[in-house]
Amino acid sequence: MHILIKSKKEYIKSLIRVNHAGEYGAKRIYEGQLKALSRKSNHDVISKIQHMKEQELTHLNYFEDLMIKNGARPSIFHNIWHIGAFGIGFVSAFLGKNTAMACTSAVEEVIDEHYQEQIKILKSIDKNEIADTIEKFRLEELEHKKIGDSYSATGLAQIGMKMVTRFITKTAILISKRV
Ligand SMILES: [Fe+2]
Ligand SMILES: [Fe+2]
Repeated sequence: MHILIKSKKEYIKSLIRVNHAGEYGAKRIYEGQLKALSRKSNHDVISKIQHMKEQELTHLNYFEDLMIKNGARPSIFHNIWHIGAFGIGFVSAFLGKNTAMACTSAVEEVIDEHYQEQIKILKSIDKNEIADTIEKFRLEELEHKKIGDSYSATGLAQIGMKMVTRFITKTAILISKRV
């Protein structure tokens, strides 16, 4: 763990900011995907995406709440996440439902690792309540990854989508942790 914890308070604020950005991004990805899929007959995929989006809304509400309680603020790039995540979602689904699900699978793979790292640190600084909630969310993200994997074929488009999505997600995490 190469995180220098200046103070618990600063760490928690950074954690809230990055998780808020992530959950907001997840919501926007699904919105973008639903927009692109709405014209096609993909009822099974649409209902699954709606289900995942609803869970993301619960996650987002939790971090919004924590944000107010801890006097944290959103990422200064909030507007970019707003547009960028929607764009990624839209493009991924425009390319087809398998590519949309490949995008979800890649995002959740990165988020799983990200949350695992946070849970370890939170427990070491006695923030067990937040750790337990994030663990609950993490299990839901893994459920999303499973759904994604059940659709995402291993064609070039899906492999490319996963690579791009992983890179973008990791970069957005790095940035939102700091600002
Ligand atoms: Fe989430
Ligand atoms: Fe998710």
